[in-house]
Amino acid sequence: MNTVVIGAQWGDEGKGKIVDYLASSADVIVRYSGGANAGHTIVTGGKQYALHLVPSGILYPDKTVYLGMGMVIDPAALFTELAMLKENGIDWEGRVFISDRAHLVFPRYREIDKKRDSERKHPIGTTGRGIGTAYSMKSERDGIRIADLFWKEKTAELDEADRAFIAPYIERLEKMKVDITAEMYRLKGKKILLEGAQGALLDLDAGTYPYVSSGMSCASGAPVGAGMGPRDIDRVLGVFKAYSTRVGNGPMPTEFNTETQSELYHYVRETGREYGVTTGRPRRCGYLDLVALRYACRTNSISDLVLTHLDIYDELDGIEACVAYDIDGKIVTDFPADIGALNKAKPVLEQFKGWKTSLKNCRSYADLPEQARSYVEFIEDYCGTPVNIISVGYERSDTFMRLDPFTRGAEHGNGL
Ligand code: IMO
Ligand code: MG
Repeated sequence: MNTVVIGAQWGDEGKGKIVDYLASSADVIVRYSGGANAGHTIVTGGKQYALHLVPSGILYPDKTVYLGMGMVIDPAALFTELAMLKENGIDWEGRVFISDRAHLVFPRYREIDKKRDSERKHPIGTTGRGIGTAYSMKSERDGIRIADLFWKEKTAELDEADRAFIAPYIERLEKMKVDITAEMYRLKGKKILLEGAQGALLDLDAGTYPYVSSGMSCASGAPVGAGMGPRDIDRVLGVFKAYSTRVGNGPMPTEFNTETQSELYHYVRETGREYGVTTGRPRRCGYLDLVALRYACRTNSISDLVLTHLDIYDELDGIEACVAYDIDGKIVTDFPADIGALNKAKPVLEQFKGWKTSLKNCRSYADLPEQARSYVEFIEDYCGTPVNIISVGYERSDTFMRLDPFTRGAEHGNGL
């Protein structure tokens, strides 16, 4: 039973928290795409961990985690993160493995990334972690994989700075490298949790191109990046927040107006702690965009939606969510590819009553106030996909399930 967890918006939906929550019932956890541009936050026992490369299952002492072949890995960032885990008493040795087909990120890639973006007429606002450069080198067939570090003719071609950078890591990487395709085949029949990074709308193909990341953050990227085939995926979980956020540039039709809605903007950003885990940048905030969410459900065959940050709306009298775009007077409900159209789109809003009470102690769907359930059920109807996991706070324990993704059953949607 293999379950994929993807972001169903523009990243930062709470994927790390949900992977951590589900990891207790998984056998292994595989991160399948992206690199240190991701920032996955987990809060447990009052302690907060920010992970960028290591899969979010690592906090359980008995779980094995894999960095998949769809990832681009900066070894300096990886070993800094592993050292942070060790300092926090998390013994990772012997249970973190890396696909020998994963590509490496060298320090100069970061500089190239930043320079390229600053020279763009319309900068993307990258995280500057060398991710775009690593993926473009890979596509140009000039990338260096982990396996290539052990291919003498290839390492001989490396320039001096790259060779000096990688030298201190080779021995450690050798111990951690595996053929992930063989591992996944060996694990057939086990419960594999596949952790995505970024989000459906940051996917290179289906996202708001060119304002996207450069990896496959879609669900289809999961089997590729984990070294298995598409028929090996049983379930796709799409994580989304009760509202929308975006870091960096690009269209965001439901963004709150910074002048006329500054109070709401400020409230959501501060209550939701909407600051980047990787870059510290304040995130752009807006209404839940159901046009975009349904598009994510369709393009990723999401079987179960996972709603996070529902508690951020606890104090509001009323809530709104976008059900269509008004583009030059035309009502649109299919998410457009045209960035010009998205930039002009005005959200058509549906109103909901607020619940005006804390959700913090809700531990089942029945515990949610009626107004919160109405909001959830509207989303389910609109997207044609059940919301099977809900999170109402930062702690691991602030999440509850309506249906365990690892069970088989007709209650899981099939996407639209
Ligand atoms: P997690 O996994 C939010 C955004 C960047 C930028 C664009 C391209 O934490 O959800 P890149 O450095 O990837 O070339 O930047 O993508 N971005 C993210 N936004 N969460 C992420 O990851 C992101 N990873 C990249 O802000 O707009
Ligand atoms: Mg992030």
